[in-house]
Amino acid sequence: MSRYLVTGGAGFVGSHAVLALLDRGHEVVVFDNLTQGHRAAVPAAATLVEADLADAARVAEVFATWRFDAVLHFAALSIVGASMRDPLHYIAENVAHSLNLANAAVRAGCLRFVLSSTAALFGDPDRVPIDEACRIAPSNPYGDSKRMVEEGLEWAARIHGLRYAALRYFNAAGSDPQGRAGEDHDPETHLVPLAIDAALGRRPALTVFGEDYATPDGTCLRDYVHVTDLAEAHLAALARLETHGSCRYNVGSGTGASVKDVIAAVERVGGRPVPHSIGPRRAGDPPVLVAASDRLRAETGWAPRYGALDDIVRTAWTWREAHPKGYADRG
Ligand code: UFG
Repeated sequence: MSRYLVTGGAGFVGSHAVLALLDRGHEVVVFDNLTQGHRAAVPAAATLVEADLADAARVAEVFATWRFDAVLHFAALSIVGASMRDPLHYIAENVAHSLNLANAAVRAGCLRFVLSSTAALFGDPDRVPIDEACRIAPSNPYGDSKRMVEEGLEWAARIHGLRYAALRYFNAAGSDPQGRAGEDHDPETHLVPLAIDAALGRRPALTVFGEDYATPDGTCLRDYVHVTDLAEAHLAALARLETHGSCRYNVGSGTGASVKDVIAAVERVGGRPVPHSIGPRRAGDPPVLVAASDRLRAETGWAPRYGALDDIVRTAWTWREAHPKGYADRG
């Protein structure tokens, strides 16, 4: 059994990783300021420290209280559109918080670190599917903030012997197949939950952001990866760090789905139409982001279990239908 510090463990991807760790019998301390995360998303078996990564003294105190085998760092601002409106805030917060955390980890002698990084590193990619050798050229401040954090970790690796895994997530979606956790952002900006809510009549029609991209149906292509598969990628990366140096992996299912494909999947799975209209492009959106996850598969044995878009949408649909108010329904 190992003990892990999970920042952002009350958030969407973090809460699913917490479940995966607890399911393996590990001990988990969640560090979350609950501005985006939900208290009810933290299982009783985990310890919740409600605090902010800006508070370096508090972070150091956590490392003085427990000895961790590794840190999994999910806590971040992660909305591409919001980062285009408030770039300096995004960069300042994501970079400063991550470096505070890495600094405290290194000082405490905790030299294993898994970073939630992003496909947004690649901007408008120079080739698709996107492998780890593709050009890093973020087209929005969110992606650039993660690039800066990866670089900081690389220096900590060279100088302090930190071993880190940077997992570049493509589009996380779906929810725990056992129904223990789901996606609940406020405001919600992500396509899958918005399309489901539109089908359920819980919000007005979905707006498709642009139909004039150079893609087969004119809408953006994304690589939707099931959040439980993403959580498993963290376990795979942790195992790899035990025997190897730092690594950077692109994590996706390897299949591109357009906005219209997602709408069709929601309609198929839910059996109801998704009311929608076509609107203008959203600033900062690259036309195509599809992962080549061959390196992760080859080096760790990871493979998606819920790779089909319908599986992703079905689990998301089940949780959202059962939780009209998200985690607020858990009381
Ligand atoms: N979209 C719409 N209408 C909406 C919402 C989204 O058409 O109301 C479109 C977007 O334009 C995009 C696609 O649906 O083409 C997916 O959009 P999301 O907002 O769900 O996700 P993003 O691709 O913008 O971003 C997500 C994460 C980022 C991460 C990125 C990597 O939120 O943190 O995936 O691929 F960087």
